[in-house]
Amino acid sequence: MSALADRRVVLGVTGGIAAYKAVEICRRLVDAGAHVAPVLTAGAQRFIGSATFDALASEPVQTSLWDEDNPIPHTRLGQGADLVIVAPATARLLADYRMGRSAGLLTATLMATEAPVVVAPAMHTEMWGQPAVQDNVDTLAARGVVMVGPEPGRLAGGDIGFGRLASPERIVDVARTAVLGQAHDLVGTRVVVSAGGTREPIDPVRFIGNRSSGKQGFELAVEAHARGAHVTLITTVAEHADRFAPWRSTVEVVATAAEMKVAVDAAAVGADIVIMAAAVADFAPTGSASEKLKKRDGLPEISLEPTNDILAGLGERKAPGQILIGFAAETQDLVDNASAKLAKKGADLIIANDVSAPRVGFGHDTNAVTILGADGSKHDIPLSDKREIARAVVNSALEMRTRTTNKETT
Ligand code: CTP
Repeated sequence: MSALADRRVVLGVTGGIAAYKAVEICRRLVDAGAHVAPVLTAGAQRFIGSATFDALASEPVQTSLWDEDNPIPHTRLGQGADLVIVAPATARLLADYRMGRSAGLLTATLMATEAPVVVAPAMHTEMWGQPAVQDNVDTLAARGVVMVGPEPGRLAGGDIGFGRLASPERIVDVARTAVLGQAHDLVGTRVVVSAGGTREPIDPVRFIGNRSSGKQGFELAVEAHARGAHVTLITTVAEHADRFAPWRSTVEVVATAAEMKVAVDAAAVGADIVIMAAAVADFAPTGSASEKLKKRDGLPEISLEPTNDILAGLGERKAPGQILIGFAAETQDLVDNASAKLAKKGADLIIANDVSAPRVGFGHDTNAVTILGADGSKHDIPLSDKREIARAVVNSALEMRTRTTNKETT
C-alpha cells in the first residue's frame, strides 16, 4: 500500500508561475490515495483558478481565514494534517514562514501544524540566490522543514537558470519520504553515489561500454537527497546532470573507469556513505587511437588492459565509520559470487542482483536484489521499482551505520 494512502495532506499553493504544476502534484497525491485539502494564497489565485483544484482534490479549495461557514480553518487544517506541502513556495512565503508571520490562511496553517512540512521553492535565479532567501531556506531546513528543489531549467520569461520548481514526481516522492518519517535520516551526512556504465574509447567515435542505464544509481542519489544528505552523484549519464541538480548536491559527469576513479576517490574522502552503483569496465583498450579507425586499414586488433578496481581501492582506504556499498551484477550463483565480492573488496554491503532474471537490473525500471552485509546479514528485496530498491539500500546503510557507531562507542 502507498505510504500516502489515507493520509491527510494540505497542499498549499503560492503565487508563482509554477502554480499550474501544483495541479499535477494534487492529482498524483490523490492517485496515491491521499486526502488532499488545497489552500491557495491570493497570489496563487492570480495564476490558477480554484475550479481546477475543486475538481481534482478531495475537498474544495480554501483561500481565506475568514469564512463564516468554516471558522478557524487554519487550526482544523493544521491540526488534522499528516503532511503539509507548499508547492510552489515564493520568496515571500519562505520569509513569512521563517519569521512566524501568520499572513493568511496558508501561513496560519503552517503555524498551526505539527505535521511534517515539505516546501518546494520556485523563483528566478537571482531571487533564489539572494542571501536573505538562502538564509531563510537554511533556517527552515535547520528547523526540520523538508526542502525539495529548486532545480535548474527554463524559468518564466524564457531564462534558463536555477530556480525551477522540482518536478511533481519528485515532490510527491519526497512527500512519501516525509510521511514515512525518513526525511531527516541523513541530515548532516555526505553520500557519494556512482551511476551508469563507463565507456572505454577505442577511437574518437567508438567505445567499449555495457548495458547499465544508470537508473538504479540515479534513484539512490534521489533517495539519499530526499532523506537530507548532501549527495555527490558521479555518473556517466549526461542527462543526470539536468535531472539531478537539487539543492545542495553535486553532480559530475565522467566517461571512463579512470575518470570515474579520480572523481570517486576525491569525493569519497570524508564521505559517510559511498555507493558504487556504476557498472565499471574491468578492461579498457590499451591507448585509444587518436584518429577514427578506417575499414580500409583492415580488422583492427584491440588489446585490452585491466582497469583499477575503484571499490576495492576504497575498501583498502576506508575511514572508520564510513559505509561502503557495492553492487554485484551476476548471472549465476548470485549469493556465493556476491559474498565473495563483498569480502574481496572490503565493502560493508553488497547489493546483489541476478541480471539475467526478467525485469531485473540493466535498463529496467524494476530490480530485485539481495542485500548482503559484511556482518552476515541478508535481506531479499523482491521485484520492486528502483526507487523502492533505493529506499531499502539506504535503510540497510543506516542500520549498518547505527550498528557500527554503537560498536565504536561501547
Ligand atoms: N567496480 C569498481 N571498479 C571496477 C569494477 C567494478 O569499483 N573496475 C565495482 C562496481 O561498481 C560494483 C562492484 O565493483 O559495485 C562489483 O562489480 P561487478 O562488475 O559485479 O564485479 P567485478 O569485480 O567486475 O567482477 P566480475 O565482473 O568478474 O563479476
